[in-house]
Amino acid sequence: MIKKVEQGVLNKQVSIVTGASRGIGEAIARHFFKEGARLVLLDLVEEGLYRVANSLDPSGDSILCFQTDITVEEEVHKAVSRTVERLGRIDILINCAGILKHLPIEQMSLEDFESVLRVNLTGTFIVCKAVIPFMKKQGRGKIVNISSLGGRTGRPGVGVNYAASKAGIIGLTQTLAREVGPDGVYVNAIAPGPILTQLTRQVPSEVFAKWNVGRAVNKDGLPEDVARAALFLASDQSDWITGVTLDVNGGIFIT
Ligand SMILES: NC(=O)c1ccc[n+]([C@@H]2O[C@H](COP(=O)([O-])OP(=O)(O)OC[C@H]3O[C@@H](n4cnc5c(N)ncnc54)[C@H](O)[C@@H]3O)[C@@H](O)[C@H]2O)c1
Repeated sequence: MIKKVEQGVLNKQVSIVTGASRGIGEAIARHFFKEGARLVLLDLVEEGLYRVANSLDPSGDSILCFQTDITVEEEVHKAVSRTVERLGRIDILINCAGILKHLPIEQMSLEDFESVLRVNLTGTFIVCKAVIPFMKKQGRGKIVNISSLGGRTGRPGVGVNYAASKAGIIGLTQTLAREVGPDGVYVNAIAPGPILTQLTRQVPSEVFAKWNVGRAVNKDGLPEDVARAALFLASDQSDWITGVTLDVNGGIFIT
């Protein structure tokens, strides 16, 4: 007999989502909540976190929000240890916080280069490092790192800083998957193509259009498209998949 599922795919699983105050991170938070996750939302922007949390649970009881800069180890450690104090475990981590500073190389200062690496790559490292001891102790965990099509193929106009940071996330994901796989921790990445969010609204429309050239399907990328892929990689539906980068791009890049 097949048992009916009532609790959602993520039934009470404690899920940390970074960059959750808007865009793709917000969509992931909403989708995971619908699927029964216990949400822990991290972002630099506190009002955004509470806007998302209150719209999902007006009582404010079931969702933890921590204003956190993912590049600051102490802040990340505080958020992670408070999560464990309050909820007892961490089942899922979605590393979604990221920034884009698209400039041609001649106009890109060292600060422009390093600041993007610092948030996108070092920030991902810092949050992974903070949660892994808990996941190892549990003997299980799922990490999903948000890379980008820009880290998979050269893209005009994303900036070498962004492309390098997102390619770095793929390398980090592959090696971390090998390191912590024996402890039951799965680590995967998603490489979204162009998705309409505040991050891409700063890009001139002709550049955004160029990013979509060659797309196989006649549909724009939406934050929810990435959220559904994140749900798959975060849930037990993807067990035995680790170290992969899942392309979510309407067929712009097909390997
Ligand atoms: N939008 C796209 O086309 C696209 C494509 C591929 C990959 N991505 C990646 O997806 C992720 C989300 O992108 P988005 O389009 O939703 O962007 P967004 O700008 O709408 O959201 C990014 C969020 O990250 C937060 N953030 C930035 N720096 C932070 C820090 N130091 N600490 C904590 N939070 C911080 C921001 O406050 C914001 O809420 C990013 O990693 C981005 O690189 C986006």
